[in-house]
Parts: sequence; structure tokens; C-alpha cells
Amino acid sequence: MSNSKARVLFVDDDANLLASLRRQFTAKYEVTTAQSGSAALQVLASSEPFAVLVSDLKMPGMDGIQLLSQTARMFPNIMRILLTGFADFHNAVEAVNQGFVYRFLIKPCPPEVLDQALTDAVRHHGLMEAQCELHSLQRFKHLFEGIVRGFSAMVEARDPYLAGHQSRVAALSCAMAQELGFSPEDLDTLRIAAMLHDIGKVYVPTDFLNRPGVLRNEEFSIIKMHPDVGYDILKNLGDDWPVATIIRQHHERMNGSGYPLGLTGREIDKGARVIAVADVVEAMCSHRPYRPSLGIEAALEEIEQGSGLLYETRSVTACLRLFREKGFQFPQVTTPL
Ligand SMILES: [Fe+2]
Ligand SMILES: [Fe+2]
Repeated sequence: MSNSKARVLFVDDDANLLASLRRQFTAKYEVTTAQSGSAALQVLASSEPFAVLVSDLKMPGMDGIQLLSQTARMFPNIMRILLTGFADFHNAVEAVNQGFVYRFLIKPCPPEVLDQALTDAVRHHGLMEAQCELHSLQRFKHLFEGIVRGFSAMVEARDPYLAGHQSRVAALSCAMAQELGFSPEDLDTLRIAAMLHDIGKVYVPTDFLNRPGVLRNEEFSIIKMHPDVGYDILKNLGDDWPVATIIRQHHERMNGSGYPLGLTGREIDKGARVIAVADVVEAMCSHRPYRPSLGIEAALEEIEQGSGLLYETRSVTACLRLFREKGFQFPQVTTPL
């Protein structure tokens, strides 16, 4: 919510009353006035959104209930208040059923009563706006998740042995990160990075990826470019969101023997240190063109032996605890492609 004054529109065919309302509320709100229902609709359609609409009931042409019911359809987030000298049961029912009014006030309305009604209406409007923002943020997040899954599947479709690899690495990485006490934000970042960590393999020719047998040196050096390529693809996501950096560093090793930069220890992002372990464990458990699955015990032995040297000790400990004490299993993943 911004700190600027809330916008309030008063509608009445009495110009003197409008002038007095303007004087009364102009210090507190950004006040606009209109002398008829149709003039009010023009103002609503052609200017910044209003928080509150306060309308008279009896006006020549369009009456207050017609104005409020049209406004409810066209600008549902505006809080509607009906201010009338003609209070009867029929009007009140119409105002509620057709105008969806927030408040029904009787003229002459004491200033403090109108003031309180406006304060309540502006607060209610703020809550509704915040709810809408949250809703669109959730929709955006949902859309973004779909795009991430799609990109992930796109890379894996080029290599049948890679199918589901990134999702399984993401599942294990997140379980490890929870053991390590990552914050919800860091966990989100880690999950996205893990889902896309091999995205740079889109630049690796498919026959390198799918060919059984040991790769030649030049083929392996092309495959080793994938962390940098992944970084280049995603670096525009923003400096404060280290997804691209984590992806670039997922083959770094604690003693500097990794690639592409040969970083050591804490030079490596904490998310990349987690993914490095999960990546090795998942890869060793899966079939590859050049060998069958080595099994989970061999994978756990590998990280145990490399603990502190190649792999971060606390990540290894978390991973071993998950498999040996907490019964972690890789999820069955079906990719959308
Ligand atoms: Fe990789
Ligand atoms: Fe990987």
C-alpha cells in the first residue's frame, strides 16, 4: 500500500454540499466531486482508481442506487457509501441488493459519522487491494513454476538418461536444505536452481549425451561448459536472486578441483554446495548410457569418502541422515514432455 492519500469521489447534485465536503476532507483524502451519476462514471473511467465512492440517492437522471450498482460491476474494489435524505426501508434494501453498499448514511450526516465511515471504508479497501495483490502474486508464482518445469523437461527430453534427474535432485536438495535450516526464501531459490541446474546441456550435442562408452577429452570439455552456459541463460534473473550463480557452481568442489572456476570452500554458494552432493547421489543411483545404476549404498559411500574434501561436510551429513535414518526416497517423477 502506498503512503499517498486515498482517493475519494463524492457525488451529489447539490454543489454547495459538494463544496463543503471538499473543504471538510481535502486535508485527509484526495477529493474529487461530480454533480451527477453520469459525470461520476466518466470520472471513474478516466482517472486513477478511487478507494471510496460516496453518492447521494436522489439525483436527476441516474440515481444513487443505479450509480452504485453500475460501479459495483465496473469497479468492484471501490467501497460504496450511500448518503441520503430519503431513508426508507425500500431504499435501504435496494442499496444493499443492487448497489452492494458498504455503508448507508442519513442526511444531515454528522461530520464525525461520515469521517468514521470513510476511515473504515479506506481501511477495508486497502485490505481488499492487498488480497488482490497476493492473488496475482500467487498466480504469477504458479505460472513461473510451470515455466521452470517446462524448461527442466525440455533439457531432459534431449537425453533419456536425464529424465527426471533435475526434479529428483531438487527433491533431495530441498530435503537436505530443510535439515540444514535454510530460510523459506533460500529454499525456494535452491529448488528453482536445482530444477534447472543442467539447463546448459541444451548446448551439448545429443550424441555426446546419449552415446554409451567413455567420452573423448574434447567431448568432455564441451559437456563441462554446461554450468557456464546455464549461468548465461539465467543471469538476467537479477543479482539478488542467486539461481544463475548456484547453477554455475554446481560442479565446484570444496578443495578447488571442480569446474568451471575451481572455487574452494565458502567461495562456493551454500545452495551449490547442497546441489553438488544431491547431484552426485542421484546420478550414481541412476542408469547411464555407459553403466547401470550403482545403487544408493555406493552413492552414499562416495559422498562419505569425499566429505570435507570434495563435498561440504554438513551437506553430506544431512544427506546421510536423510537416507539412513529418515527413510528418504527419490520421488517417482513423470516429466511433462
Ligand atoms: Fe551438471
Ligand atoms: Fe546434474
